[in-house]
Amino acid sequence: MVLNWLPQETKQAIENLDLGLSVYSVPEIDILLSKTVLFRGKKFRPTLCFLMSQTFGVDLDRAQPYARAAEFVHAATLAHDDVIDESPTRRHRPTLNALSSNARAVLAGDLLLARVMAELSALGEIEIIADLANTVEELVSGEWLQLEARNIARVNRIHLETVAKKKTASLMSWCCATAARLAGKSQSWVALARQFGESLGIAFQMIDDIIDYDPAGEKPFAQDVREGLVNFVTLEMLEAKPSLLEPLQKILGAVPEGVQWPWQPSDLERASAQVRARADAKLEVAGQILDQLSQLSNSSPDAVQALRSILVYLRERVR
Ligand code: FPP
Ligand code: MG
Repeated sequence: MVLNWLPQETKQAIENLDLGLSVYSVPEIDILLSKTVLFRGKKFRPTLCFLMSQTFGVDLDRAQPYARAAEFVHAATLAHDDVIDESPTRRHRPTLNALSSNARAVLAGDLLLARVMAELSALGEIEIIADLANTVEELVSGEWLQLEARNIARVNRIHLETVAKKKTASLMSWCCATAARLAGKSQSWVALARQFGESLGIAFQMIDDIIDYDPAGEKPFAQDVREGLVNFVTLEMLEAKPSLLEPLQKILGAVPEGVQWPWQPSDLERASAQVRARADAKLEVAGQILDQLSQLSNSSPDAVQALRSILVYLRERVR
């Protein structure tokens, strides 16, 4: 993500964010994590923690351990997700499971979660920790629900939205709600911050699904179909043309080489445009929440503006 438009203070906090682990007992874990799930990530979730903290008038030094925790939890989910998906690469680099083994990838993810527990419990913000435990449960149940629907073409919108909310949006929501909690805000502000993260996260997933069907994208074309998953764009095509259900079911999770895709390019184009419109609607909601947050007496206008730029970046994101 292009972060040129971040306030200088935020940029500095992200650059200074320490993602070191120092696992003295097993230094190999450090090495493997720094080569894979902790390797030069976009740090999107820490960015959200910092910008939301500035929006709520919270000092960035106070937000720092929570930003670190968000990135560690995210990294743990990726380590485990690559085992579940049997992925050999992530962002053109070998995954932890490929470099080492499934067992070690699971353990390295567990270690990250243990660190988060230890570091956050030392700070004593029990509500934030309880909220994070719930978020981890959401991540697990989101991934589980997705697994249950693998290789099934007939899924409904409620299923996809629930998975996106739990698997993608929940951690972003935690980042935002944590900033409100650190500021000592009431439950209604915490809920509003959480809703911002949720709208942003669902839009994020929808745009990811559009990009999944980009032949020039980072991942192979229609990787979700190859992995047996119906995404938001596929669902839109199925809703418009139910006759696609049967041919899709035949290739879902087992796409033969040189496959003739069952949909027409125009089906895909229309479905992608519809998903983009749905994502825009979510981003619109997020923008309206920002209008309310910008009224807070000690909010940083630069941080609010940077959050708006994230919404614009997502709206315009094509790959
Ligand atoms: C990536 O999805 C996966 C996630 C965002 C969440 C994965 C969650 C778990 C594995 C369960 C919880 C685990 C822990 C450690 C709390 P994707 O496969 O759609 O995206 P990708 O293309 O980036 O792999
Ligand atoms: Mg995956």
